[in-house]
Amino acid sequence: MLGTDAGHPHHWKKKMARRRQIYEGKAKILYEGPEPGTLVQYFKDDATAFNNKKKGVIAGKGVINNRISEYLMTRLSDIGVPTHFVRRLNMREQLVREVEIIPVEVVVRNIVAGSLAVRLGMDEGTPLPRSIVEYYYKSPDADKPLVTEEHITAFGWASPQDLDDIVPMALRVNDFLSGLFLGIGLRLVDVRLEFGRLWEDEHMRIVLADEISPDNCRLWDIKTNEKMDKDRFRQGLGNVEEAYQEVARRLGILPESGPRDLPGPKAVQ
Ligand code: TMP
Repeated sequence: MLGTDAGHPHHWKKKMARRRQIYEGKAKILYEGPEPGTLVQYFKDDATAFNNKKKGVIAGKGVINNRISEYLMTRLSDIGVPTHFVRRLNMREQLVREVEIIPVEVVVRNIVAGSLAVRLGMDEGTPLPRSIVEYYYKSPDADKPLVTEEHITAFGWASPQDLDDIVPMALRVNDFLSGLFLGIGLRLVDVRLEFGRLWEDEHMRIVLADEISPDNCRLWDIKTNEKMDKDRFRQGLGNVEEAYQEVARRLGILPESGPRDLPGPKAVQ
């Protein structure tokens, strides 16, 4: 293939266009990385809710989530939490280690909200006596169902040993992020994490994967209880872009002058 392109005036463009897409999700695209064992994670502005029933675009979200996730993954790595994150490449892309994603979403909750409020008929905002860990199976066919450790180990989505790594890591991430967000006037209501198996020679270790951003956690302002996360989109509360920007601004990763300083390229593919 390379040979036929040699000397062609559009050689470079063609090569870029041919970058292999590994996977396209609702909010991100994964491309083959520059070296074996790496992937490029591209952040889109697309947003979905209620398992794809609601679709929309949050202008600039990809740029902001790329930054927020870079920042949080780096801080977590600083305290010894292993993650797939390597480095940010540009406005919308980051380099990550290629992992085998465990098909279970791990949700850690500190305050009743969302599906827990509905399922148990409890008031949103009720503080939980302790953090609760829940698992949702990333079923290819059904809406992600709530499952127990029994289902996870029986169907082999993760082993008991994997869960022995995952649960303390999820709680540690939740504790660290709760403190970090509290410091900038935000309450971490809940957070959804994904983990992957990273293979190094014969060894496997479990690392934090995917992203951490207002797309997959709930953040409420300490003083006003205002929602500063994707619930603004899910519930049609308006000012979605502004909320994401405010989170980034408080984290100190958005210039005070605002998002115009982050003119994300439309498409980098
Ligand atoms: P839930 O209350 O709707 O179950 O959501 C719990 C947390 O998980 C919340 O922070 C939003 C996040 N989440 C995702 O990241 N992806 C999803 O598909 C769902 C349903 C929730």
